[in-house]
Amino acid sequence: MNESQENSRPSTVLRDEHQVILRVINILERLVGRAEAGQGFESDAFAQCVSFFQLFADACHHAKEEDLLFPVLESRGIPREGGPIGVMLYEHTVARGHVKEMGEALEGVSNDGQAAQERFCAEAHHYISLLRQHIQKEDNILFSMGDQMMTQDDQNKLCSQFCEVGCRAFGGKQKEELAAIADDLESKWGDA
Ligand SMILES: [Fe+2]
Ligand SMILES: [Fe+2]
Repeated sequence: MNESQENSRPSTVLRDEHQVILRVINILERLVGRAEAGQGFESDAFAQCVSFFQLFADACHHAKEEDLLFPVLESRGIPREGGPIGVMLYEHTVARGHVKEMGEALEGVSNDGQAAQERFCAEAHHYISLLRQHIQKEDNILFSMGDQMMTQDDQNKLCSQFCEVGCRAFGGKQKEELAAIADDLESKWGDA
């Protein structure tokens, strides 16, 4: 496979998106650590993280895996039930639940104060650890298996479908605008 084919692989697009997701997860972890150390609960930054997870990680990224990649992998023999695709789908559902809980906890912070903050931090810890190991499994196992099993035609078709999804808006925002949330959060809360 030459370099341009390598760059246009669907798995490369998804792996790149994983890196953006991990950057926001790192900031979330840092901010949760600050909140738990009594250094302040950054509601606005947490709301940015939740919106990023809903729109970039879920509506854009997980949807591409679920609607486009996984069905092709299944057609090439990677099992869904009792196999890696089933596990990935289950983890997406669990992740969605944690994001929903984080969003609801944030909404309750003004009334519920400490309890809502603690609920937010607990859900965030679950989400952080789930997504990190989920991404590791996709990057190191599932995507490598998929690249070996898919035909060049599968790869090309997925690439154009990914491009089409990449041009959509999610919650009124383009993919690039959502990815810029990671830059924004890092500029405020990343390493100095
Ligand atoms: Fe996934
Ligand atoms: Fe993924």
